[in-house]
Amino acid sequence: MKKTWMLIMSMLMAVMMVAGCGGGDKKAADNKVAQAPKVLRVGTEPTFAPFEFQKEGSKDFDGFDMDLIRAIGKQLNMKVEIQNMGFDALIPALNAGNIDVAAAGMSITPDRQKAVDMSDPYYVSGLVVVVNKDNAAVKSVNDLNNKGIAVQIGTTGADRAAKVPGAKVKNFNTNAEVFLELKNKGVDAVIIDKPVAEYYLAQGGGKESAKIVGDTMEAESYGLSLKKNSPLTKEINKAMLDLKKNGEYDKIYEKWFGAVKK
Ligand code: ARG
Repeated sequence: MKKTWMLIMSMLMAVMMVAGCGGGDKKAADNKVAQAPKVLRVGTEPTFAPFEFQKEGSKDFDGFDMDLIRAIGKQLNMKVEIQNMGFDALIPALNAGNIDVAAAGMSITPDRQKAVDMSDPYYVSGLVVVVNKDNAAVKSVNDLNNKGIAVQIGTTGADRAAKVPGAKVKNFNTNAEVFLELKNKGVDAVIIDKPVAEYYLAQGGGKESAKIVGDTMEAESYGLSLKKNSPLTKEINKAMLDLKKNGEYDKIYEKWFGAVKK
């Protein structure tokens, strides 16, 4: 009798525990739904190392901008989802509402500021001329008149090349193609962002064949871009400021560029 009683008791307890647990689980699940982080849809064009690139054979997005936007996402409690698109497709994608932010080493220019919201600047850059090592004739942009220049379509480098008198400008979708065209001597020069040229010369395969000539042309600052009047622009600027204050920005900078210039 005592045994049966205990059996009934323990069965009852087991049922209660399961029920209790179940209830708890359901509550936790409800909470999760309520707090599921919103997705931050990010667009980039990943042939721009060290700002955005994919290691050979990998689909992962690597680079300074990618670390920065992930840190911003964390700060805003948003889930960052990055997608790959053409550089000239980024602003149309923002305007169409297909992405929320473009993180693509995009220089802040008056034209772009008319088309989209641009965040506060996060990196100071500029353009340079890259030629083949055996090219002794081209010493600066002033020697490029009537020459062939390779650029990435839609970039400030493309704008600069278009101003060179008589230049035959070849536009490419990716910077991989831009640098290859130079290597294959399809053009005399490339106009591209200085840190990207430096990275290409240091570890991107250009060490043996290419060099930078002349001074840095036009100082440019990179900003993140968002749809015009996006409510997120303010939040992103605030998150970026917080990352600068809490040292996270410096950590990311150091990872990709070495010691922080203060
Ligand atoms: N800074 C230049 C521009 O804004 C080039 C940016 C290219 N970025 C890239 N992810 N491919 O036009």
